[in-house]
Amino acid sequence: MPNIDRRTILTLAAGAASALARPALAQAGYPNRPVTFVIPFAAGGPTDTVARLTAEVMARDLGQPVVVENVGGAGGTLGAQRVAQARPDGHTLLLHHIGMGTTPALYRRLSYDPVNGFEPIGLITEVPMTIVTKRDFPAQNLAELVRVLRERKEGINLANAGVGAASHLCGLLLQSAIQTQVTTVPYRGTGPAMTDLIGGAVDLMCDQTTNTTEQIRAGAIRAFAVTTRTRNAALPDLPTAAEAGLPGFEVSVWHGLYAPRNTSAEIVNRLSRALQFALRDERLVARFAELGTAPVPQDQATPAFHRQYWQADIAKWRPIIQAAGQYAD
Ligand code: MLT
Repeated sequence: MPNIDRRTILTLAAGAASALARPALAQAGYPNRPVTFVIPFAAGGPTDTVARLTAEVMARDLGQPVVVENVGGAGGTLGAQRVAQARPDGHTLLLHHIGMGTTPALYRRLSYDPVNGFEPIGLITEVPMTIVTKRDFPAQNLAELVRVLRERKEGINLANAGVGAASHLCGLLLQSAIQTQVTTVPYRGTGPAMTDLIGGAVDLMCDQTTNTTEQIRAGAIRAFAVTTRTRNAALPDLPTAAEAGLPGFEVSVWHGLYAPRNTSAEIVNRLSRALQFALRDERLVARFAELGTAPVPQDQATPAFHRQYWQADIAKWRPIIQAAGQYAD
């Protein structure tokens, strides 16, 4: 055996290890620069919260920074359009929610294809909603809230994030359930809407626990119900809508990650693995729990599951929206 000193052996070993890894890295070549998450709502809202928590951990797995860019407006369709028209190289992604299920029926004249314009990467989380008002609203429980909404009607300002937003959908379902019509005040996201609710500039909102839990705990807003079948562990004293007198009023907000159409399966699968890595992260799981939600199981953070879930949601909402005849355009 040639007389190779210890340092050389270690160098050769390191080189071999690196060479073994290199084919994988060479094949991937992705990501080779920071990745952008486009969030179709303003900073500080529930979608932004989920995005930033997820992006921080995915960046560790991808080995590149993941930058969050808020592109609000038009109920989330401006941000979705940005990604649908981006290069399919895996460096511009969309993190969006149930709006991807409702937009295809709500918007009839979009400049992008709301269904075929994207490659689903995986589901992220499903977030309950809460019916909340400004702190001094003249109602102490849901029954009283319903009475006031029926009496004051357009005199009540309901904040949401635009047609197609989850807050818009929940507000529609609430008004339909109690047979009244209030005034809607649209924002570029429920982050800025929450600021006005705390300040008393608007009266009412239906928003996700990821945006309302800490304000409810702080007493900055008043909560009346959570819109899920069972109570939420982060808000154990908050009754469900059914307990509070609105049986069957259930809506929760699923979130997913998307790449532009024609993004390669290799990149989509690499992103799905990074998403699954993030959803196993203990700090992310703990923070989601503090905000009333939880990551989806790992097998749902996959392109195949996400695609079938998304297509089923589109099929669910289309007849409901067409029957209501309320379109965004
Ligand atoms: C919505 O209302 O659909 C969004 O949650 C708004 C937001 O994330 O800001």
